Amino acid sequence: MSTQTDISPDPDGDEPTRRDFLYIATIAMGGIGVGSLAWPFIAQMNPDASALALSTSEVDIGSMQPGDQVSVMWRGKPVFIRYRTEEEIAEAEAVEVSELPDQNARLEVDPAATATNENRSLADRPEFILMTGVCTHLGCIPLSEAGDFGGWFCPCHGSHYDTAGRIRRGPAPENLAIPTYEFISDTTIRIG
Ligand code: FES
Repeated sequence: MSTQTDISPDPDGDEPTRRDFLYIATIAMGGIGVGSLAWPFIAQMNPDASALALSTSEVDIGSMQPGDQVSVMWRGKPVFIRYRTEEEIAEAEAVEVSELPDQNARLEVDPAATATNENRSLADRPEFILMTGVCTHLGCIPLSEAGDFGGWFCPCHGSHYDTAGRIRRGPAPENLAIPTYEFISDTTIRIG
């Protein structure tokens, strides 16, 4: 099937008429117009390049030192991995679960687990904690080493989380969530 548009000959010869030229030009400009309108809609369906660069499910914690925290994007959300100091761990262990506003550990792998420091720490590497960096109130990103309990503080409406990421004061109803993870080498964690 041909897609060419025929140009009728001039009655006096073989040259296209002025009317034919205007007709073709109108079709061509219409095509460009539709294309330029459609492009932004098509382009916005592509993944954002910066989001792709930050998205990862595997994190090497081998070079981290006590007090370090890394944040990675996973499924569109920040995930915090913190190598806690001895003081931070001691503070988290000293808290009775019965004192906590939310006594559920918020583990994806074990929805019934209680919110002890041990349950919320990394298995085999309890000096680390890994959790979603999304405030359980309205979804802001909490600041680390801040707030009244030395863990994380959400500046949006004043939620204070302790060094095990448990809500201690403020409007947030739940502890920071802990996604599924596993060690795939001595120092590499795969999230999800
Ligand atoms: S979103 Fe964090 S306190 Fe409201």
